[in-house]
Amino acid sequence: MTTLLSAEGLHKSFGKTSALDGAGIAIREGEVVAIMGPSGSGKSTLLHCLAGILPPDSGTVTYRGQDLTAMTDNARSELRRTEFGFVFQFGQLVPELTCLENVALPLRLSGMKRKDAERASRDWMERLEVDTVADQRPGETSGGQGQRVAVARALVTAPKVVFADEPTGALDSLNGERVMHLLTTAARETGAAVVLVTHEARVAAYSDREVVVRDGRSRDVEFVR
Ligand SMILES: Nc1ncnc2c1ncn2[C@@H]1O[C@H](COP(=O)(O)OP(=O)(O)OP(=O)(O)O)[C@@H](O)[C@H]1O
Ligand SMILES: [Mg+2]
Repeated sequence: MTTLLSAEGLHKSFGKTSALDGAGIAIREGEVVAIMGPSGSGKSTLLHCLAGILPPDSGTVTYRGQDLTAMTDNARSELRRTEFGFVFQFGQLVPELTCLENVALPLRLSGMKRKDAERASRDWMERLEVDTVADQRPGETSGGQGQRVAVARALVTAPKVVFADEPTGALDSLNGERVMHLLTTAARETGAAVVLVTHEARVAAYSDREVVVRDGRSRDVEFVR
């Protein structure tokens, strides 16, 4: 399988704190990779650098042969909007919009007509088993439903990579497993790669491969389940 997204020699400091100290990683097309490691080890920083959200101080991030760190801000935003999807721990849905409008938002932003965007969004909400909350606002759903709405929104644009930072961090284990099952099943069906940050072994168990980050350095744990 070809490498889709990779990072080499990443360094990133926040003031005197070194968050990344030579971290590297390679993500192949369609694979689910779990980034694990203790709190404060640099997992989120690595994810944000990989996704082009945070510029590293040095090192390179390469997506399909393009150096993300050398792109203009506009080109990077465009890439994030069209090729990447995001799921965070919580708080990423727009509270004023219904769940359906939230899922449809990325399609609307890329110029799709409301009717078409909502039809595609309903399909995704059915797949994530949250079509029942389509007309409710995020504040009126359970935590697990909200995360599944966020997953539907991340997948609706058919991204090549879904970045998920502790997507089950605020859920109980049963709901966490349901989110992980639906996320990884949907990603595998569409061929999207998933880069997942977690410190829960049972969440990482849904991945093909684990990468461990310690003190801002990453190490591949190369095994296939
Ligand atoms: N915006 C920021 N400003 C200052 N320091 C930061 C910032 N973001 C991260 N850090 C620091 O960088 C280091 C790595 O943080 P990071 O958030 O990447 O860790 P993490 O592995 O995701 O931890 P957790 O499991 O707790 O989420 C930590 O020491 C953290 O305090
Ligand atoms: Mg983190």
